[in-house]
Amino acid sequence: MGKIEPGQFSRLLTVGEVAARSGVAVSALHFYEARGLIESQRSRGNQRRYAREVLRRVAIIKVAQRVGIPLAEVQEALQSLPQGRPLTAADWKMLSARWKDDLDTRIRRLQGLRDQFNGCIGCGCLSMDSCPLRNPWDRLSSEGAGPRLLDPDD
Ligand code: FES
Repeated sequence: MGKIEPGQFSRLLTVGEVAARSGVAVSALHFYEARGLIESQRSRGNQRRYAREVLRRVAIIKVAQRVGIPLAEVQEALQSLPQGRPLTAADWKMLSARWKDDLDTRIRRLQGLRDQFNGCIGCGCLSMDSCPLRNPWDRLSSEGAGPRLLDPDD
């Protein structure tokens, strides 16, 4: 949080104004601030005031959350950008391209799970040996340690 320069006060927004304009609850804004995702300045009366640029930042956070990006990743991404200037359309272009790749990966993973799940419907075995959802990555571990498929004499 920084100090407000003289004459700057009228250009700043209260937390209620940010909430109204962004559609995000005041409590969520406080939470974002506590996590370092947004920052405020203090008025003479020690009230939070936000630069207008915070609205773009909040919009980016909300869109990222909507597509399932964890807040910790949003925070890391925002911190990787140059500080001390408003976020730009170019920033959003870069972040959205990065998060689209994450979204595509999660969609592929979910499609794979759905396909495996289809095989379980009506089965009910829940077997550690044959059910891909019970033991998706370690099906051969019951046969012993090591690379079981690489040595045919093993
Ligand atoms: S429950 Fe039988 S294969 Fe998953």
